[in-house]
Amino acid sequence: MNMRLQIAILPGDGIGPEVIAEALRVLRVIGEFSNIEFRFAEHPFGAAAWKRTGVPLPPATLEACLRADAVLLGAVGAPECDNLPREQRPETGLLELRSQLGGYANLRPAVAYDATAACSPLQASVVSGANLLVVRELLGGLYFGEPRGIAADGSSAFNTMRYSVEQIERIARVAFREASRRRKKVTSVDKANVLETSRLWRQVVTEVGREFPEVTLDHMYVDACAMQLVTDPRRFDVLLTENLFGDILSDEAAVIAGSLGMLASASIGGRVGLYEPVHGSAPDIAGRGIANPLGAMASAAMMLRYTAGLEQEAGDIETAIRLALEAGYRTADLARGGAAKTASTTEMGAAVESELVGILDRRCSYHAV
Ligand code: NAI
Ligand code: MG
Repeated sequence: MNMRLQIAILPGDGIGPEVIAEALRVLRVIGEFSNIEFRFAEHPFGAAAWKRTGVPLPPATLEACLRADAVLLGAVGAPECDNLPREQRPETGLLELRSQLGGYANLRPAVAYDATAACSPLQASVVSGANLLVVRELLGGLYFGEPRGIAADGSSAFNTMRYSVEQIERIARVAFREASRRRKKVTSVDKANVLETSRLWRQVVTEVGREFPEVTLDHMYVDACAMQLVTDPRRFDVLLTENLFGDILSDEAAVIAGSLGMLASASIGGRVGLYEPVHGSAPDIAGRGIANPLGAMASAAMMLRYTAGLEQEAGDIETAIRLALEAGYRTADLARGGAAKTASTTEMGAAVESELVGILDRRCSYHAV
């Protein structure tokens, strides 16, 4: 199988370029061991682009992203941009990019590896073995609903939570499809005891669920879910929810993984898939070579899975990450668990790379005999 993948690389700001460099390492290894030909093209984005061009998302960058097979993004944001007018701020560029690419499904896995369960602020006995996927609706609900505004006299403000049947159906299908490849369980989270949008949500999700008889569906109120996530995270497989609830719950689920630096994400369903670690540009540690690159590397794995259907290659990268952790490598953010080998960003990247080479070598020699 010959495959050519054009990847737009947006390193962005702060630790973005540091972690993206490590993600590219594993993709290059995959390229060397397979017939997949990666074409990486870097483009300015975020504060880095603003400094050069005056805008965070230059038109040429957006065009290149729309032409690419996938976009791999580091992070944006810089303290010197915090007081810029809204349209010049890096975060505005990110929102614009997301909406132009059109991904309505935001997928965020949270895994507690045995090797890092002790890194979580939760008890290792509670998180160990937890492995869940948050599927969040990204283009509807309170963040986009009209009307919205602040009363002219400033005495009140309002937003609208609105969902159409079609919006709920398409995100529900993503969740059920994911569950059918995992432990076959969807927990749909809503507030159906109070909200009309949630009642429609529950009804439509139940109907879509009938298309997937092999997957079990249960419903949970968002407040109960917030508690269950930290008291019994192992009960979840796929957690399906709307935009606002998903924003909050996916950050909460992050504590399971032990560090923000571990978390990957994919925004899919639109014109071009967008893959990025969950963390921001971390100006407090930028330039020191200590950022955790695993979230960015796991985002590269998600890119192979969702954009290119390369399940085996994606799984190989994820296995290599687990093996590097089991071998004792820890970046500084994972120090809570007691580090056997405190690793810099590049040392961690190199450890994963060498595990990946080992996996692929073993498979090649197995096929050769
Ligand atoms: P942040 O995620 O950048 O950092 C939060 C804390 O986690 C910091 O103490 C940081 O050092 C640590 N951290 C984050 N990623 C890490 C990694 N890979 N390894 C080790 N430690 C890590 O969030 P913060 O500080 O709220 O925002 C900083 C800037 O990033 C702001 O300009 C913000 O707007 C932007 N931001 C951008 C995002 C994106 O590009 N998707 C997401 C979140 C924030
Ligand atoms: Mg958030």
